[in-house]
Amino acid sequence: MSKRITVGVARPAAVTVFINGRAVEAYVGESVLTALIAAGVLTTSRDSFGRLRTPFCNMGVCFDCLVEVDEGEGASSRVRACLTPVRAGLRLVVPEGH
Ligand code: FES
Repeated sequence: MSKRITVGVARPAAVTVFINGRAVEAYVGESVLTALIAAGVLTTSRDSFGRLRTPFCNMGVCFDCLVEVDEGEGASSRVRACLTPVRAGLRLVVPEGH
């Protein structure tokens, strides 16, 4: 079930992003964090003690939304999901088992 507001909202055509390999619908113009939350993903990473982290501020301050982006060919980067715009084909890696 979608967690998005659907009544009275106009969005561009959907693009596909991948969360741990699972294809989900997202929209250019929204943040990666919005796409994650809409897909039901509330944890983005683990801290140095292995504890799950979840977004807190949604404005780039807390860094609790750091998420891994698979850049392909073995490369990856970590970005703040709340400040990173969605783009088609984005491959996100988040902790499993929660
Ligand atoms: S939620 Fe705090 S930096 Fe993104």
